[in-house]
Amino acid sequence: LRNSFETKAVKQNINTVAMQPKVQASFKVAVLGAGGGIGQPLALLVKMSPLVGHLNLYDIANVKGVAADLSHCNTPSEVLPFTGPEQLGDALKGVDVVVIPAGVPRKPGMTRDDLFNINAGIVKTLVEAVADNCPDAFIHIISNPVNSTVPIAAEVLKQKGVYNPKKLFGVTTLDVVRANTFVAQKKGLRLIDVDVPVIGGHAGITILPLLSKTKPAVSFTNEEIKELTVRIQNAGTEVVEAKAGAGSATLSMAYAAARFVESSLRALDGDSDVYECSFVQSELSELPFFASRVKLGKNGIEAFVNSDLQGLTDYESAALEALKPELKSSIEKGVAFANKQP
Ligand code: NAD
Ligand code: LMR
Repeated sequence: LRNSFETKAVKQNINTVAMQPKVQASFKVAVLGAGGGIGQPLALLVKMSPLVGHLNLYDIANVKGVAADLSHCNTPSEVLPFTGPEQLGDALKGVDVVVIPAGVPRKPGMTRDDLFNINAGIVKTLVEAVADNCPDAFIHIISNPVNSTVPIAAEVLKQKGVYNPKKLFGVTTLDVVRANTFVAQKKGLRLIDVDVPVIGGHAGITILPLLSKTKPAVSFTNEEIKELTVRIQNAGTEVVEAKAGAGSATLSMAYAAARFVESSLRALDGDSDVYECSFVQSELSELPFFASRVKLGKNGIEAFVNSDLQGLTDYESAALEALKPELKSSIEKGVAFANKQP
C-alpha cells in the first residue's frame, strides 16, 4: 500500500509525458458509514489508492463535507457523497467493493455483543441494499459484533437469492495488524517481516493468534505466548479504555480496513498472490463461519490456507476448542435475528 502511494506521488511530481503512470485499473469502492470515526480516515486511505477510480461515501449524517474535503486531494478517484436511505441505492450501483463500518462503537465496560441490538438492524438494512444494487461486489463487514453481523449479512443475501460466500468477508485484519505489531515489539523483529495468522472470530477469546505459525519462525516462552495472546485478544478493549467513552479503535481500524480493501482490489486486478485473514463461511472447523487465512482472487475466496490449522501447539488446540461455544452462539444469534419475522 505504502509503496504504491510513494511511487504514484513521485510520478506525479515529475510532469513529463514519458513519466506518466501506466493506466491503472479503476475500481469503484463504496464506504457505508463514511462520516464516522472509522469511515473518515478509511475514506482518506482509499482515496490514496491508485486502483480506485470512484469512491462513493454514504452515511445518514455528516458525509457531504467529508466528500467535499476529500475531493480536493489530487489522487485519481472521483469522490461523491450520498446521504439518507433514498440515496443508498445510487451509492451502491456498479460498486466492486463495499465496506461497512456503519454502527455504534463500544464504551468502557461493554462487550461487542452489547452492540448487537443497534448494529444488527443497521447491517441488515444496508446489506439488503447491497443485494439489490451490487450483488456481485466484495462485501467487507466491519460493524460489530462481527461474529454475528457476518452471519446476518449471509442470511439477508440468501433471502435475496444473491449469496456468494466467496465474496462476504468479516474484517479481522486489525487482529493481524495488532499481532504483527506486538510480536515484532516483543521479539525485536523488523515489522515488515512479521506475519501472524489470526483465526476464529473477532471478540475476546474467539480471537486466536497462531503464534506457532509466526513468520519468520520465532520461539516464544510459555509466558510470552500467554501474555501476547491475551494482549491481542484484549487490544480492542485496551483502546476503548484509553479513549474513555469517546469510542473504540478508529485510526488503526481504518489502516487495517484500507489494507483489506487494497488486497481485494489487487485480487480483482488479477494479482495471484494475495492472502488475508478474514471471518468467512468456512469448512475448516465444524462452525459455519470461521476466520482463517484465505487466498483472494478475481472471484473472491479462491482457497483456504488449511495448513495453518495443522500441527497446532497444545495451547493453541485448547484455545481453539475453548472458543467454539462462544463463536457458535454468536453465529446462531445472527442467523436467528435475520430470520425472525418482522
Ligand atoms: P462512529 O460512531 O464513529 O461512526 C459510525 C458511523 O455510522 C456514523 O457516522 C453514523 O452516522 C453511521 N451510521 C449509523 N447508522 C447508519 C446507517 N443506518 N447507515 C449509514 N451510516 C450509519 O463509529 P466507529 O468508531 O466508526 O465504529 C463503527 C463500527 O465499527 C462499530 O460497530 C465498531 O464496533 C466497529 N469496529 C469494528 C472493528 C473490527 O475490527 N471489525 C474495529 C473497530 C470498530
Ligand atoms: C476492535 O477490535 O478494536 C474493535 O472490534 C472495536 C472494539 O469494540 O473493540
